[in-house]
Amino acid sequence: MTAHDGPISGADNHSLWQRSPVFIGTTKFARVPTISNILVTGGAGFIASWLVRHLALQYPRYNVICFDKLDYCASFNNIAHVDANCSNFKFVKGDITNPNEVEAVLREHNIDTILHLAAMSHVDLSFGGDSYEFTSVNVYGTHVLLETAKTYGKITRFIHVSTDEVYGEVLEGDTDLLESAILAPTNPYAATKAAADMLVNAYYKSFKLPVIIVRCNNVYGPHQFPEKIIPKFICLLADSRRCFIHGDGSHSRRYLYAGDAVDALDTVLHRGTIGQIYNIGTTDEISNRDLCGLLLLQFGYGEGEFSQHIEYTNDRPFNDRRYAIDASRLKSLGWSPKTSFEVGISRTIAWYRQFGSSWWGDISDILTAFPSSRHHWPAKDNDSVHM
Ligand SMILES: NC(=O)c1ccc[n+]([C@@H]2O[C@H](COP(=O)([O-])OP(=O)(O)OC[C@H]3O[C@@H](n4cnc5c(N)ncnc54)[C@H](O)[C@@H]3O)[C@@H](O)[C@H]2O)c1
Repeated sequence: MTAHDGPISGADNHSLWQRSPVFIGTTKFARVPTISNILVTGGAGFIASWLVRHLALQYPRYNVICFDKLDYCASFNNIAHVDANCSNFKFVKGDITNPNEVEAVLREHNIDTILHLAAMSHVDLSFGGDSYEFTSVNVYGTHVLLETAKTYGKITRFIHVSTDEVYGEVLEGDTDLLESAILAPTNPYAATKAAADMLVNAYYKSFKLPVIIVRCNNVYGPHQFPEKIIPKFICLLADSRRCFIHGDGSHSRRYLYAGDAVDALDTVLHRGTIGQIYNIGTTDEISNRDLCGLLLLQFGYGEGEFSQHIEYTNDRPFNDRRYAIDASRLKSLGWSPKTSFEVGISRTIAWYRQFGSSWWGDISDILTAFPSSRHHWPAKDNDSVHM
């Protein structure tokens, strides 16, 4: 671990990030006296980089420590603005699965608040060669954070960021799920997130660790690594290539703009109740096929041309038809989404048209129907997995 170890990739250069708008959320709450030094795990990734920019810029009296191992999906470009301009921001390169590194960052920076977003987050990779990595980072890594936070003893808030996928699919016509719904994940990614939620709850019950869990819809916006559907389709179309649709494309998802996700996390940080779970959701629901159509229209293609720009592929081993969560509890704290899907999408397209092909370096191996493994695990003849 080093106190400051970025930028690392060839894609990270000053002129690039300096040309990008600095995206943050809109909320700004009165300072909470028990919040001073905030650790954000996974802060060089998509959602957490929005969060560290937001916290560092909106709250100069909070110190924000970004703890990230700079995995394949991260970019130092995501945090370069706050790194260069905010004296209350620090980047620490480290791995949440390493207890020594986690303990060191907590003690060195006198951390009182943890926002935990580091994860392996791409469902498609969890079906394939990276499956064990999901258990290592999402379950074991969360366990390391919890256990270290418990021993350290000075954490006043531990906010764990989870997903609507832990509830499993919600069929058309079913009621939107409350936070009390049974967890029924159907893919390895969602199962690891659900397991992490269980551990977080166990540390609350057993050790009174002051935890809060949030579960989000699909988040989208500038800075998302182009393995996820919206930035991937935009990058493919910008490169005059066809979009890959899994199955018949009828599966739908609800979408939340990153700025609204950050406002929700900021609201939970300042107003959330310890021990509570909050769904973060919208009703902006669209099928993958319709999403592709909407993007094609934005790229100037007429409906008659759609078929030339779409390639249907095999479906996922299992593909939840849809997710639907009820965010009333969070809304009762004063949060509501402010960015319509139309506005969010056009902002996102504009950013990727300018930065998508260079922000993360070479992304050609990502722009495929099913991405291949990003990590190398021990050879098959060594059956044991060391975490
Ligand atoms: N993106 C979404 O639509 C969405 C929706 C609901 C919930 N979530 C959750 O929100 C969180 C952030 O998601 P995202 O899409 O922004 O993620 P991302 O994939 O963009 O970023 C993950 C970050 O975690 C870091 N990381 C991975 N393993 C690490 C480790 N062992 N130690 C330290 N850092 C590590 C990576 O380097 C990267 O910066 C995740 O917990 C995810 O499960 C995401």
